[in-house]
Formats: sequence, structure tokens, C-alpha cells
Amino acid sequence: MNTHIVIAIDGPAGSGKSTVAKLIAKKLGIVYIDTGAMYRALAYKAYTMDISFEDEKSIAKLAEAIEIELEGEKVLLDGIRVDGHIRMPVINENVSKVAKIRQVRDIMVMHQREMGKKRSVVMDGRDIGTHVFPNASYKFFLVADIDERARRRSLELIQKGYEVEFGEIKAELENRDMQDSTREASPLIKASDALEIDTTSKTPEEVADTIIRLVRTEE
Ligand code: DC
Repeated sequence: MNTHIVIAIDGPAGSGKSTVAKLIAKKLGIVYIDTGAMYRALAYKAYTMDISFEDEKSIAKLAEAIEIELEGEKVLLDGIRVDGHIRMPVINENVSKVAKIRQVRDIMVMHQREMGKKRSVVMDGRDIGTHVFPNASYKFFLVADIDERARRRSLELIQKGYEVEFGEIKAELENRDMQDSTREASPLIKASDALEIDTTSKTPEEVADTIIRLVRTEE
């Protein structure tokens, strides 16, 4: 690929963003950036330091002090790999509280813009097409039925060895959707020029191929 492109993929939790984005990155040979992992790494750091998720001031300070690096699927927090920890239930339940803090978002967005400045990337998150890269070459907004999203999330947790209760997972997703879409600072919202794709009854391969086809046709 000759030109420098940014593919923005937004949508609610469990809509398939990260699975699809990883496939696209692999197939196109470009870099995948999981922006949710950055908010999760910060939430994890706060958790290990016993800082309350409600303590916005301390969390904002922490965001300034820590270094988060993404290398493929590896997430490094101050040089230490944390990707094995950032998807545990306590982080799932509380990460939205961290992600809604404006100062935290400003810091993360600055890093994300830096990462997509010089090379082609596929970036997934909640505000990529609306705020991080409003001029992104390609914008997609993935959605899926809540029951399907809860099923996917349950499966993911079961595979990691957690015991899950479907109703609880569904409620947690609904709560997170609500928090992410109603927060003041760059809420989860479809960019007016993003293409919406319903992934409920599609495989990640199908969605990734649809996106790749569109990218290739317009190149
Ligand atoms: O995609 P995820 O579930 O890993 O995201 C974790 C949290 O971070 C989620 O509550 C929304 C938030 N987030 C965000 O606000 N902006 C982003 N660009 C990415 C994630």
C-alpha cells in the first residue's frame, strides 16, 4: 500500500471491532491500534495502586505519569506487559469511569494521533472517526444486537477461565454503552460520514473482507 491511510473503526463493546480490526491489519499489512487497551491499561494501573475509580483527580495525574505502548497485541505499561490483565472483570466494569475523564482523554488522544501520523493504521475505539481522526480515510461504525454482544463477551471470558453469568454480562455491557454514549467528553456516537455495519449474523472474516473491499476500491 503506497498511500498513508487511517481506517477508523468505532462501535459499542462486543460489536466485533477488535477482532475485525486485527484481521484487517493482518490482511493489509498495516498497524493495528487498540485504543480501548490504553484506557484499560490506565484503569489497571489505578486498580493495582488502590486508587478509587471515582477519584478523577488522581487518575488524571496518573495518566500524565505513566507510559503506555502498544506493540501489536502487546500492551506495555511502564515497560511491563499487561495485556493479560486488562480484560479482567473488575476492569470491564470500571474502565468507562476512567475513560470519561476529560484530561485522561486529552492525553490518550494526543498519543493516538501521534501513532497514526506517519504510517497506515487501523484504529478501533469509540471516538476515532468523530474526534481522534475526523479526517480519517475510511470510517466504520460496527453495531450488533445486545444478546449477541453479551454472548461474544461471555465466550471471551469463559475462554480466559472466568465463571460468567449471561445476565450479568449483558447488564454490564448495557451499563457501559450508557456510560460511553452519554459522557460529556467525546461520547460514543457514529460519525455522520461513517458506514454502519451490523455484525450480528456476520463472521469477523466477512466484516473484515467487506471493509477491505471498500478500501481497495477507493484506492
Ligand atoms: O473497546 P474496549 O472495550 O476495550 O474499551 C474500553 C473502554 O474504553 C470502554 O468503556 C470505552 C473506552 N474507550 C473510549 O472511551 N474511547 C476509545 N477510543 C476507546 C475506548
